[in-house]
Amino acid sequence: MRTQIGIIGAGPAGLVLAHLLHLEGIESVVIENQSRRYIEHRVRAGLLEQDSADVLIDTGVGERLKRERLLHHGLYLKFNNELHRIDFADLVGRSVMIYAQQEVIKDLVAARLAAGAPILFEVAAVSMHDLDTARPKIRFIHEGAQQEIECDYIAGCDGFHGTCRPSIPQGELRFFDREYPFGWLGILSQAPPAKDELVYTRHERGFALLTMRTRQIGRLYLQCEPGEDIANWSDERIWDELRTRVAGGEGWHLPEGPILQRGITAMRSFVVEPMRYRNLFLAGDAAHIVPPTGAKGMNLAIADVRVLARALAARYKSGRSDLLDDYSAVCLRRVWKVQRFSWWMTALLHRFPEDNEFDQRRQLAELDYVTSSRAAATTLAENYVGLPMEWE
Ligand code: FAD
Ligand code: PHB
Repeated sequence: MRTQIGIIGAGPAGLVLAHLLHLEGIESVVIENQSRRYIEHRVRAGLLEQDSADVLIDTGVGERLKRERLLHHGLYLKFNNELHRIDFADLVGRSVMIYAQQEVIKDLVAARLAAGAPILFEVAAVSMHDLDTARPKIRFIHEGAQQEIECDYIAGCDGFHGTCRPSIPQGELRFFDREYPFGWLGILSQAPPAKDELVYTRHERGFALLTMRTRQIGRLYLQCEPGEDIANWSDERIWDELRTRVAGGEGWHLPEGPILQRGITAMRSFVVEPMRYRNLFLAGDAAHIVPPTGAKGMNLAIADVRVLARALAARYKSGRSDLLDDYSAVCLRRVWKVQRFSWWMTALLHRFPEDNEFDQRRQLAELDYVTSSRAAATTLAENYVGLPMEWE
């Protein structure tokens, strides 16, 4: 097989990239090690920045998104048993929306298949070769047969645990890393959301977040121990803890329902520099991870591939490679700002085991400041709705 761009991974990064390249008349082959069913049902992110949604709408894959999304013009911060609203529309004139990651994936897979463009599921034993030549190759097994794709460039969109980043020779990359002393336990609940917008709660027992998927399905998260065993959390314990942390004080209650799905996520911040090695470009979680408190992972993956698609289009249309040369630096400027924000939101709202009473008072003072100063609230809003692209 021969193609222009070999794309490894059919997550938001790989699929948005393939779609943008297709619209530019650039050929690609997407390979994914999971099944189509698996990636279309994996429960992950839910919050899209307006710019991320606009990319999908403006490129013809946003019809269902426009119908089904839940637009949010603000969010709630809860602490000391009081609810405070941050009004994005008033502060920065923009908004965000809930539309689940697996729905974005379904829309993009459908578009790719309708266009007759290649996407191979359930590939195995993926490896990369000749990355430092003009003909890099991807080898893998598909339907029992060994395959090879020869490309001009490879896009490593295979997530944090993928194979692209580890294929880069030692010493070529620098890693920046922070692990947090807690995880998130997340559930999908068959009960309507408690509030019309997200509720981020700081509580002595730890952080909790009320978000949603639809008007009938809630998505709820609790700070838990890192590496916690989900078997330790009965339905009753989950609801008890959620009730303790988020309900009360405001005359509203937490609707409860059957738990449809549950899981525990580790929390980390991670960046690799540069996001390129010769003809392999890393994008999305393959290059960086943020803790989910700022709702940024999927949005950052989409921002990376917008930069990459534009640079590849310039390369094929006018032979310019300067945008490809700038790819990593342009992405990293955004990545670091988003890292800073995600770390800050995490520090603002979680309970850190090493914190003493001074730290707790300082955290509450920061929340008080963010909810009482227009300048501070604007900073949160501006970052949460999404910073402009670096080229704008
Ligand atoms: P992925 O989605 O991980 O896609 C990588 C793909 O590559 C996968 O399909 C994988 O199967 C495939 N793959 C892996 N290895 C190989 C291989 N060797 N060969 C071929 N294919 C391979 N982000 C937000 O923006 N907003 C949120 O609200 C939000 N909430 C989150 C909540 C939770 C609980 C979690 C876990 C994450 C959340 N995120 C959120 C983060 C978001 O889900 C990720 O940042 C996003 O999925 C990154 O997209 P990606 O395409 O880079 O990687
Ligand atoms: C989600 O809806 O899953 C979600 C929303 C906001 C976050 C994290 C997750 O900060």
